[in-house]
Amino acid sequence: RTLALIGAPTDIGAGHRGASMGPEALRVAGLAEALRERGLEVLDVGNLVGPVNPWLPPTDGYRHLDEVVAWNRAVMDAVHAQLGLGRLPVLLGGDHCLGVGSITAVARHCRDTGKKLRILWLDAHADFNTSSVTPSGNVHGMPVACLCGLGPRALTHLGGQAPAIDPSEIRQVGIRSVDQGEKRLVKEYGLDIYDMRYIDEIGMKRAMEEALEGVDEHTHLHVSFDVDFLDPAIAPGVGTTVPGGPNYREAQLVMEMIADTGRLGSLDIVELNPAFDEHNRTGKLAVDLVESLFGKSTLMRD
Ligand code: ARG
Ligand code: MN
Ligand code: MN
Ligand code: MN
Repeated sequence: RTLALIGAPTDIGAGHRGASMGPEALRVAGLAEALRERGLEVLDVGNLVGPVNPWLPPTDGYRHLDEVVAWNRAVMDAVHAQLGLGRLPVLLGGDHCLGVGSITAVARHCRDTGKKLRILWLDAHADFNTSSVTPSGNVHGMPVACLCGLGPRALTHLGGQAPAIDPSEIRQVGIRSVDQGEKRLVKEYGLDIYDMRYIDEIGMKRAMEEALEGVDEHTHLHVSFDVDFLDPAIAPGVGTTVPGGPNYREAQLVMEMIADTGRLGSLDIVELNPAFDEHNRTGKLAVDLVESLFGKSTLMRD
């Protein structure tokens, strides 16, 4: 299985500039080399192009909606093309608004191929805001809502039909920052959320067993890895840090348990922001964890 690295250098949906440098930071941290070291075939298809960030205040509850749509179209087309070639797409973000394009493509591919879709959304945030409840207008706080059919038509219908996914197809892990109106929507849509309180109580191992329950040989597993999922003590290089995230060992376990399923079919690595980082420390950590996601194990017994 060949991996296709797709760079999407933009911060169009974010509240801070700099996630546009994410793809290069991951390359500089040695992502392709580390995966090749694992015996994987890795093709870096380069960067997508899209509009510059005009850095404007929201209009009608959205910042830069037209530009967000343009970037997401490019991402959707690129991800779907790589899936069609039988490759495993790895989206190098870019901010998390790009999850709309990436996952819309994956969902369409699953419909084409008769696979069951399971999305693991690793994040500090639920990203389920709408234009009426968003505190910021930043579209990186809205992709899950858009995928579930709640949002501007240009994003909910990016792939032609809406909703792109059913809420039952997604599991959110690591959540610890949900805005007030957002919380109400998340409950209304019945999202399955493994928040940090729950993880503290039952432990990461059991939480992940539950989140992965039902994943089988017919499942396409998509991982949307927002780097702010990690505790800021180990991952300062993101725009929206929230204290109280998974530590290194917990994050490692998450990645290894996903790898153990053998069902990983596509991946987003988003929100890495070198402008907030220290010597690309967070970029290197992301590469380390992605190696585990592709099977590098700290187990002695295998
Ligand atoms: N909930 C906040 C907002 O809507 C923050 C969202 C952060 N999202 C992210 N992908 N980092 O603005
Ligand atoms: Mn996110
Ligand atoms: Mn297809
Ligand atoms: Mn986040």
